This record gives sequence, C-alpha cells and structure tokens, in this order.
Amino acid sequence: MRLHQLVAGLFLVIAASVQAAPVAKSIPADSMGLSKTSVFDTPEPQVYQYKGEMAGQNKVLPRAYLNAPPQIPHDIADFLPITKDNNMCIACHTLPDQWGKVREPGTATPIPPSHYTDLRRDRNKVTDHLINARFNCNQCHVPQANTTPLVENTFGKRSR
Ligand code: HEC
Ligand code: HEC
Repeated sequence: MRLHQLVAGLFLVIAASVQAAPVAKSIPADSMGLSKTSVFDTPEPQVYQYKGEMAGQNKVLPRAYLNAPPQIPHDIADFLPITKDNNMCIACHTLPDQWGKVREPGTATPIPPSHYTDLRRDRNKVTDHLINARFNCNQCHVPQANTTPLVENTFGKRSR
C-alpha cells in the first residue's frame, strides 16, 4: 500500500466514525437544577413555618455534633431582621454572669465566652463585650422549619 492510499484510507475511517458519533441530547429546561421547574419560570418559594413556641417555653434541641452552633428552639419571627440598632437576641441572651451556672428552666442560655473572644486578634482572651463577628446570630444559629430536604443528608450516619 502506498502512503497516499494509507492516508486516504485513514481519512475514510475517521470520517465514518465522526458521522457515527451520537449527537448530544439537549437537556430539558425543567431538569437542570434541584428545582423541578423550568429554568425560565420564577417559582413562588414555599412559605416555611418555623417550629417552636415563644422563647422560654421550649427545651433546647440536641446538638448536631460537638461544637455545632445550637439550633434555636424558639420562634424568632418577631426578632428578625437583626439590624445594627436592633438585636433582640442580645437583649435576652447577654447573661455573662450566668456562665458556668445551671440554667433555670425558662431562662435564656447565656451567649458563651467564645462569642466574647476575638479569634482574629487574641484567641486566648475573653473580653467584656460581644465580638462584632458574632453580631449576626442567625448567620450560624437557625430554627427548625417544616422543610423537606432537597437532598438527603447522610452526615454522621457513617461515622457514628
Ligand atoms: C425573649 C427572650 C429571647 C429572645 C429575644 C431570644 N431568645 Fe433565644 N432563647 C431564649 C430562651 C428562654 C431559651 C431557652 C430555651 C427556650 O426556652 O426556648 C433560648 C434558647 C436559644 C438557643 C438554644 C441554646 C442551647 O443551648 O441550645 C439559641 C441558639 C438561641 N436561643 C438563639 C437566639 C437567637 C439567634 C435569637 C435572635 C434571633 C434569640 N435567641 C432571641 C430567649 C430568647
Ligand atoms: C460565627 C458563628 C456564630 C455566630 C455569628 C453566633 N454564634 Fe452562637 N454559637 C456558635 C457556635 C459554633 C456555638 C457552639 C460552640 C460554642 O459554644 O462556642 C455557639 C453557641 C451559642 C450558645 C450556646 C451556649 C452554651 O452554653 O451552650 C448560645 C446561647 C449562642 N451561641 C447564642 C448566640 C447569639 C445570641 C448570637 C448573636 C449575638 C450568636 N450566638 C452568634 C456560633 C455562632
């Protein structure tokens, strides 16, 4: 076989395989994300009902893991949004004189010493004030709501 015949043969093989390659299927617009609606829709979000009665009438919830931010066991609808001038959480939870004491039922859990410690500057010093990085409480603490998880969470099931 001559070289030009070989090249021509190769070209035919490549051309045939290109033609046989399957054409990529288009993805339906309603299966691109976790939301089972079309990406062109603007769905109304479901209204979530937070569990829990007024603060002072609940039991605290179990911690998800050691050092996890505890979930809020009470209703917080009246305490949000947290603003620079209005933080209701602080009003009830600032109880540093209660650190290390047994909590009376119905009284708020004191904001712990960790929230008075500036982890950026001096992580060994408990100051006399709440560190601003902890001001926005619901950045880390959340109440439970009647939601169904979009994706099952298997955290902790294997390790324990
Ligand atoms: C009216 C007082 C009051 C206000 C305001 C309040 N809390 Fe509470 N909080 C309580 C009491 C009392 C408890 C103890 C459990 C209970 O009775 O609900 C508690 C419990 C908690 C706990 C559970 C602590 C643990 O050890 O598990 C967290 C977290 C919490 N609150 C966060 C917040 C956040 C965040 C806000 C603001 C959005 C807030 N609280 C506003 C009174 C209050
Ligand atoms: C950056 C995340 C973060 C922010 C912001 C934050 N917390 Fe916490 N909180 C935690 C974590 C993590 C824990 C558990 C470990 C610990 O005690 O430090 C905790 C623990 C607590 C506890 C339980 C203390 C105990 O003795 O069991 C209370 C009450 C609390 N926080 C209240 C608040 C309040 C009120 C605010 C807002 C002023 C706030 N936290 C802001 C992360 C945060």
